[in-house]
This record gives sequence, C-alpha cells and structure tokens, in this order.
Amino acid sequence: MSNYLIVGAAGQLGIELMLALQKKHGPERVVLADIRPVDHPDAALSTFVQCDATDKEAMADLVNQARPAEMYMLVAMLSAKGEASHLQAWGLNMDPLLHSLELAREGHVTKVFWPSSIAVFGPDAPKNCTPQNTGLHPTTVYGVSKVSGELWCQYYHQKFGVDVRSLRYPGLIGFRSQPGGGTTDYAVEAFHAALEGRPLNCYLESTESLPMMTMEDAVRATLELMEADGDALSVRTSYNLQGCSFSPAELVAELRTQGVLLDVLYAPDTRQDIAASWPNSLEDDAAHADWGWQAAHDTPGLVRAMLAGLSQPAVG
Ligand code: SER
Repeated sequence: MSNYLIVGAAGQLGIELMLALQKKHGPERVVLADIRPVDHPDAALSTFVQCDATDKEAMADLVNQARPAEMYMLVAMLSAKGEASHLQAWGLNMDPLLHSLELAREGHVTKVFWPSSIAVFGPDAPKNCTPQNTGLHPTTVYGVSKVSGELWCQYYHQKFGVDVRSLRYPGLIGFRSQPGGGTTDYAVEAFHAALEGRPLNCYLESTESLPMMTMEDAVRATLELMEADGDALSVRTSYNLQGCSFSPAELVAELRTQGVLLDVLYAPDTRQDIAASWPNSLEDDAAHADWGWQAAHDTPGLVRAMLAGLSQPAVG
C-alpha cells in the first residue's frame, strides 16, 4: 500500500492534485480514477481506472487494484448544479465518501482526504472571519451534504480510528481547468473573458464578496494537511481555510490595476442567493496552529498568478 489514488481525477481539483502528486512521488505511484477520461497530457503517465465511485463494489475493486496509502476522494456535485438535482447531488456527494470511509475502516486505505467547502455555513453564521466552530445551517443541498460528510468523517475517526482529513475550500481559482456547477465559477470565467476581450455575464451582484484561493495554495494546503502529524490535528470534521476575498467589482478593479480591462454585464440569479448565504472571509487559526497553514496569495497575487498561468503557451 504505497500508492496515491485520486478519485474524481478529471475534475478541476483532481488535475491539479494529479500534477502535484506525480511531481512529489513519481507518476508510477499515482493512480487516477473517474467515470470520464482525465483531459491532461500528463494523465497518460499514470494508471487510469474508469470507476463509478457511487458503486461500492467498483470502489472495492479499485482499491484492490490501486493499493493506495492515500486516497483523495474528490467526487462531488457543486452548489449551483446541486440545486437543480438535489437527490442526485446528495447521492453523489455522500455515497463515494461513505464507500471510502468503509474501505479505510476495513484496512484497505491508510489515509483519506475529502474536500469540504465554505458551503457548510448558512446565512446565520458570522459573515466576516467566520469562526471554525459556529452554527452550520446551510441552505443548499451541497452544503447539507458537506456538513453531513464532515460529521461522518469525524465519526469514523473517533469510532474506528480512520485517518480522514478535510479542508473547507473556498472558491478555487486555477488556469489549468474550468470549474463546473459552482457559485464561485464566475471568478475563473472572468479571467478567460478578460483575456479573450469579451464581456463577463455575471450572475452575482457586483459587491458580493466571497472567499477565494489559488489552486497553488489549495494544493499546497492539501499536501501539508496530509503530511501533518495526525496527533496534531484537533479538527476531524474539516478545517477552515482562508486565502483571499473579493467581490466581482473588486476583481475587475484589480484586473484593471494589472492592465487588463473587463466589462461586466450584471444579471444576478439564484446563485446570488447562494453566495449571499456564505461567508465573506474565514478565520483559519486552527489550520495555522495545527499544521502551519499560511496562504501565499492575496487578491493581487491571485490575479497575477492567473494572468501568468493563462498566458503560458501550453497549459500543463
Ligand atoms: N466552489 C464551490 C461552489 O461554488 C464552493 O465550495 O459551489
């Protein structure tokens, strides 16, 4: 059991973790799984297994084949898409997690990573510097599934000693792939629109501030958490994680400061309601104290990193 298995490897975060784990451990020790192929040239360097993660037997076969020390279970339906098919979102967000926790309980996997989200918070949580521990009353099925998943993680850790670790990611901003079905997706689209010289159709209000983070910071946080001494981890639900925070108007202003003009056509829709129910920023003292978390990118740094990444001749 010395391999690194990414389930949901074709997604926005999966591709980034694939590259980071390939670099760190060698592509031959990374196993990729998804129901669709991984659209990146470096995926060919690692073994790919087609797998429906909602199917327990398929997951059992996968871990038998992959023999993972660590499993990154990334399969999810994000907030906006989840509202269009709430029961499908519930199944997709819970079943793969529970299969992973069971397989770890049975001793087939040593360590599990599972992503949670700022979506665990609801409209009653403090908006600024939202604490690690506050009421979790989300109003989306995505948030409900993430709160439930966090509690399952803690339960399996406390009851069975399963080493499962988790982060509450903010909106993840990367240049290698597009997100899908989230409320924070506009921010990635803003960069593509700006560089292609077309206006952004924005479904949020111009002043709606949300927590965001570069993929570089998110991947580093994930690897740091997975490397941390388990005894030092005081949070076995999921850690708050702050990168930077901005509204659409602030993003446009920072782009302008860096010499890139973007026109925005504002037409707020139901995603504005979701965004309004989430924090503007998070307090992440526990992550800092337990495993030394420190974000590298503020908003200007995030914009610089995205513009530099998107102007590379070939992504990868
Ligand atoms: N990026 C996610 C979403 O917008 C939040 O975790 O749904």
